Amino acid sequence: GGTVTPKDFCSFLVLMTFCFHHAATSCSKSCYCSESESSGKTVRCSNLQLTKIPQDIPNDTRRVYLDFNLFTTVPANAFAGLPYLVELDLSHNEISQLEPGAFRGLGTSLQLLDISSNKLVNFNPEAFEGLRSRANLTNNPWHCDCNLQMAMPHVDLEPTSLTGIVCQTSDPKEIGVQGLAFLLAPDIDLCVVMKRTTDVAMLVVMFGWFTMVISYLVYYVRANQEDARRHLEYLKSLPSIQGKSEESSTISTVV
Ligand SMILES: *[C@@H]1O[C@H](CO)[C@@H](O)[C@H](O)[C@H]1NC(C)=O
Ligand SMILES: *[C@@H]1O[C@H](CO)[C@@H](O)[C@H](O)[C@H]1NC(C)=O
Repeated sequence: GGTVTPKDFCSFLVLMTFCFHHAATSCSKSCYCSESESSGKTVRCSNLQLTKIPQDIPNDTRRVYLDFNLFTTVPANAFAGLPYLVELDLSHNEISQLEPGAFRGLGTSLQLLDISSNKLVNFNPEAFEGLRSRANLTNNPWHCDCNLQMAMPHVDLEPTSLTGIVCQTSDPKEIGVQGLAFLLAPDIDLCVVMKRTTDVAMLVVMFGWFTMVISYLVYYVRANQEDARRHLEYLKSLPSIQGKSEESSTISTVV
């Protein structure tokens, strides 16, 4: 029959309690968790006004969604306890800073990192150390300068990821990379201007030295000329003695 006996209801309650208890111990407090054969354990913490990255995410989680929260920074080792993490979504936050080692520990497992739609301005290669995954870096107010250009060769991320760095500002301003994907503007060299400035500085310093040496030489010659002339006058004023007049003639040839 289809009737529900009190005994059935009781076991149902026990089952529910067990389920909730189980969920509470194996999932982060503030997030929603699910598990499936194909995608493994997934933790969803989207749109919860979180300001700190939860530290109670189960260590066998494969996907974490932390999008649409209020994170401003990702501290070092924030995900170090999640060795099986495949996908990490940090998009649509207020992240302006990634500390060095922010994604440490994810190097071998992570395949997709989404930090699009944040407030990232400067690219810090130390934050991505060891990470070879694909990354969505779009929709951030990137500042393109010589530092960024020098950082590019030290990034292990999947290379096409870097096309997501679209310059919103640049140094120098007039170079015209604004609105361009930095990697797709290969003839723009943002370090040239800096090199030029150092060249000019070198030139100025060398010119300074040169001027000093020349001034000293001129002074030295002048001073000695005076001395020699005075010496000569003195000799001339002496009553003429044979040896002395010879000396005076040699001095006048020297001067
Ligand atoms: C995951 O955590 C459990 C218990 O919290 C522990 O027994 C297990 O060793 C951890 N696994 C890894 C890979 O750290
Ligand atoms: C990257 O993120 C943006 C905005 O968050 C999204 O529109 C875009 O489809 C993403 N790109 C990829 C390749 O996933």
